[in-house]
Amino acid sequence: MSLKIKKVLILGGGTMGQQIGLQCAVSGFDVTIYDINEDFIKKAEERLPRLAKKVADSGRFSHEAAKQGVKRVKFTTDPETAGKDADIINESVPEDPKLKGKVFAQFNEICPEHTIFTTNTSTLVPSMFADASGRPEKVCALHFHDLQLTNVVDIMPHPKTSEETLEIVRQFTKDIDHYAIELKKEYHGYVFNNMLSTLFSTALTLASREVASYEDIDKAWMGVLKAPIGPFGMMDSVGLETVWKITDYWANTLNDKQSKKNAEFLKKFVDDGNLGIKTRKGFYEYPDAAYFKPEFLKGVK
Ligand SMILES: NC(=O)c1ccc[n+]([C@@H]2O[C@H](COP(=O)([O-])OP(=O)(O)OC[C@H]3O[C@@H](n4cnc5c(N)ncnc54)[C@H](O)[C@@H]3O)[C@@H](O)[C@H]2O)c1
Repeated sequence: MSLKIKKVLILGGGTMGQQIGLQCAVSGFDVTIYDINEDFIKKAEERLPRLAKKVADSGRFSHEAAKQGVKRVKFTTDPETAGKDADIINESVPEDPKLKGKVFAQFNEICPEHTIFTTNTSTLVPSMFADASGRPEKVCALHFHDLQLTNVVDIMPHPKTSEETLEIVRQFTKDIDHYAIELKKEYHGYVFNNMLSTLFSTALTLASREVASYEDIDKAWMGVLKAPIGPFGMMDSVGLETVWKITDYWANTLNDKQSKKNAEFLKKFVDDGNLGIKTRKGFYEYPDAAYFKPEFLKGVK
């Protein structure tokens, strides 16, 4: 292993791109966040200091480290500026294998030969777009969770990922203070997400079939497990557009009737612009969501 990573490029400045960029910057790396959309990149730049404070409040890192980290992040919509000296890429563009392949192919033309390309895909596998990168041996998944929840990260190679790439990525996860779960082979949804997507799909089926309200479904989960959040609260945190995109993609790929119904159920929220915590309204209204309050589970012992 010889590559010393200094510059990190994040592709996509949405929910995850901002969080991953922030964690890398707080850990001392120079970070560029690239997005195709001028408005979104402005919003990401405005939001980063607030996000940094919120994550520091959760105890992930100190407020001073957060402040210094924010200063290390650059924002751009110019691909040349973004990619020309990147050592590692982590892409967080929407969950669509064609789009992910397209951005990897685009940055293959711009980035130095040594640049490692990682994907933060939730449910796809890297071999679906590794060849499009023109450097499949330098591609693997590096998949993050919500920074405020955990520092667990998944590393997942595809059949052409080189051992050298994996070693560099393993070291990088340590350098950004993350704990890696390494998969032995490609598997859609990694480990935790596999369990989570089954939970989401079951919860959506119960709600879309009108078996119970989404509040009651969350109350069942929270009340029995003494958990601080239920599946619909978690979906608000992930972002309903992302949950819809993933549900819709797999519903069509597997031609599954119930999953299509679940996607339709989610689409109504997306069409109304209620995308979850990031728009302050999804299944619940934020910042004072009902499930944060003790009355939500009043009487549960
Ligand atoms: N939200 C989560 O909790 C979560 C967790 C882990 C992984 N993921 C995965 O991360 C990825 C992104 O999810 P998100 O929730 O951050 O989505 P998001 O919708 O919040 O952000 C996506 C961003 O990508 C940008 N984009 C679209 N096309 C682009 C392009 N060609 N080049 C550069 N930027 C482009 C959009 O403008 C947007 O700002 C998805 O693959 C998702 O499955 C999400």
